[in-house]
Amino acid sequence: MSTSTRQLDTSELEQRVKHMYQEVALEPEREFHFETGRALAERLGYPSQDLDRIPAGAIESFAGVGCFLDLAAIAPGETVLDLGSGSGRDSFLAALAVGPDGKVVGVDMTDEQLAKATRLAGDAGLGNVEFRSGYLEGPPVEDGSVDCVISNGVVNLSPDKPAVFAAVARALRPGGRLALSDIVSAEQLPEGVSCDASLWAACIGGAMQRDRYREAIEAAGFEIASMRENPEYHFVSDRADNATQKYGVKSISLLARRG
Ligand SMILES: C[S@@+](CC[C@H](N)C(=O)[O-])C[C@H]1O[C@@H](n2cnc3c(N)ncnc32)[C@H](O)[C@@H]1O
Repeated sequence: MSTSTRQLDTSELEQRVKHMYQEVALEPEREFHFETGRALAERLGYPSQDLDRIPAGAIESFAGVGCFLDLAAIAPGETVLDLGSGSGRDSFLAALAVGPDGKVVGVDMTDEQLAKATRLAGDAGLGNVEFRSGYLEGPPVEDGSVDCVISNGVVNLSPDKPAVFAAVARALRPGGRLALSDIVSAEQLPEGVSCDASLWAACIGGAMQRDRYREAIEAAGFEIASMRENPEYHFVSDRADNATQKYGVKSISLLARRG
């Protein structure tokens, strides 16, 4: 029987994640373990005519892993919560979809991402989107107030995914939906990878085994309506690529409905 000896240091992880995404906000042209920016967004399937309608600064700092907006099917007048909103790219696209009678709230824990998204929204005169400081595991929104929760490349970064899905269920009205893109793995990751805060912050170390990921969503009271792989997404550094090949780390998009 193997005995677990290593543990992820969650406060070190939070600092590393904040540091990494502070750089994504402030210096998006730098090289990371993952791709960022407009070319990535277009490859993942975001229509360029939609990208043309939102602030360019949000697209340059885009660090998502898939496109789920077709699954989300956001309608005019809806309330949308974007968990881990980063510099606001998906929040801004959602703001176009909900229109003047709807509302979008983006939540993130990294101050520089929040400041950038808030500045871009102000500069663009977008009054139906706001960004709040908070955590995925307890977002600052009223229970049952949201029609659709969206999230891109973020849940893998949480050390407590069941708490994230429970928080999503609380935020949604009955019948509300969760549409996301995220990173999962074919195999359970070994401790050498999952306890490495640097690989975790790069969206690899925190990848949950995909069947466990589905089960965690279902355990929070959701029915999964659709789950697909995003073969267009890949990691860029050798270190990241080795781990992804070996353990089948992949990007997926899914739609789930709250019962
Ligand atoms: C990979 S980036 C994705 C950002 C954005 N969704 C996008 O597509 O560009 C992850 C974001 O999630 C935020 N984040 C990670 N863990 C978080 C947590 N537990 N609570 C709140 N925000 C978190 C980070 O600050 C970062 O902005």
